[in-house]
Amino acid sequence: MKNVLLIGGTGFLGSAIVHELARRPGRCLPGNPLRGPASAEFCITLPTRRRERAKHLLVLPTANVVDADVHDPATLARLMTGQDAVISLVGILKGGEGQPYGKGFARTHVELPQKIAVAAKAAGVRRVLHVSALKAANDAPSGYLRSKAAGEAALRDAGLDLTIFRPSVIFGRGDSFLTLFARLAKIAPFFPLAGADARFQPVWVEDVAAAVADSLLRAESIGNTYELCGPRQYSLRELVAYAAAVSGHPRWVMGLPEAIAWLQAWAMELIPNGPMTRDNIRSMRVASVCDAGCALPFGRKATTLEVVAPAYLHS
Ligand SMILES: NC(=O)c1ccc[n+]([C@@H]2O[C@H](COP(=O)([O-])OP(=O)(O)OC[C@H]3O[C@@H](n4cnc5c(N)ncnc54)[C@H](OP(=O)(O)O)[C@@H]3O)[C@@H](O)[C@H]2O)c1
Repeated sequence: MKNVLLIGGTGFLGSAIVHELARRPGRCLPGNPLRGPASAEFCITLPTRRRERAKHLLVLPTANVVDADVHDPATLARLMTGQDAVISLVGILKGGEGQPYGKGFARTHVELPQKIAVAAKAAGVRRVLHVSALKAANDAPSGYLRSKAAGEAALRDAGLDLTIFRPSVIFGRGDSFLTLFARLAKIAPFFPLAGADARFQPVWVEDVAAAVADSLLRAESIGNTYELCGPRQYSLRELVAYAAAVSGHPRWVMGLPEAIAWLQAWAMELIPNGPMTRDNIRSMRVASVCDAGCALPFGRKATTLEVVAPAYLHS
């Protein structure tokens, strides 16, 4: 049995990784950093703040969903016991304002990876996979991207057997990106859009999950950072128009001038679960596209958005 702790694994990407690992019993390759016989399955521990959120994963025999506060060092230490690898996935899009990043980003993207590094080292769990974000950098325009860079650094400094993933925006059934635009198109006569010219290179959730699962089995991925992108670049305007059209509600997309977009985002921050923040607008100032063009590691071919999205956007 290969024991994997998946922190932040109950969400959109985590669920895809759980299913991907569940499909892969006994496929350990030579040089696999995990212990145990090659024929064993993965046994995944999934801590969550809300067990009901993970109902869809409870049925999987190799996934163990546990109520846990992963910010508590003692809980984290307990969760690490007996694990062979940890996958760190916790991420938020709204972490408040502040320099170099808001308090929410500091706690979730920086302090949590620091705690994971400490707990992993103490428990002797050397193998760590961490999902960051494309264009994470100390001098990035947003707190989201700066805090993601700081979280990566915290794990790198710990001297673990680390692999980092930096996806562009991720699409797939259950995403909160194209699905949100398709839903809004049903009720909105047109789209007043902030960051309409922002560039993205969306990558399919199952391609990201496969890259993570592959990496778990490949010793040569240790020490590497992988950018993950799909085959094509789009503007946000194109993606919104596409999601609206495919869902059966074609809409006119009107790009907002920066000052109005800023005001709109500021107003949305006042609404609980508002769809946009000023920090999101800052993130979009840097193109979320892969420098290496279409990028997936280990010789995988990225899936085209237009092949997958109609199946879940069509209403
Ligand atoms: N989705 C994308 O387009 C995209 C693009 C680039 C990078 N990423 C990165 O990929 C990772 C996974 O993203 P996702 O889309 O799967 O996110 P998601 O669906 O929102 O899931 C987030 C997960 O993190 C946990 N979580 C959230 N806030 C937490 C907190 N304050 N404390 C503890 N746990 C918390 C949630 O667990 P519970 O609620 O069960 O406790 C959930 O399992 C994130 O690091 C994200 O930044 C995502």
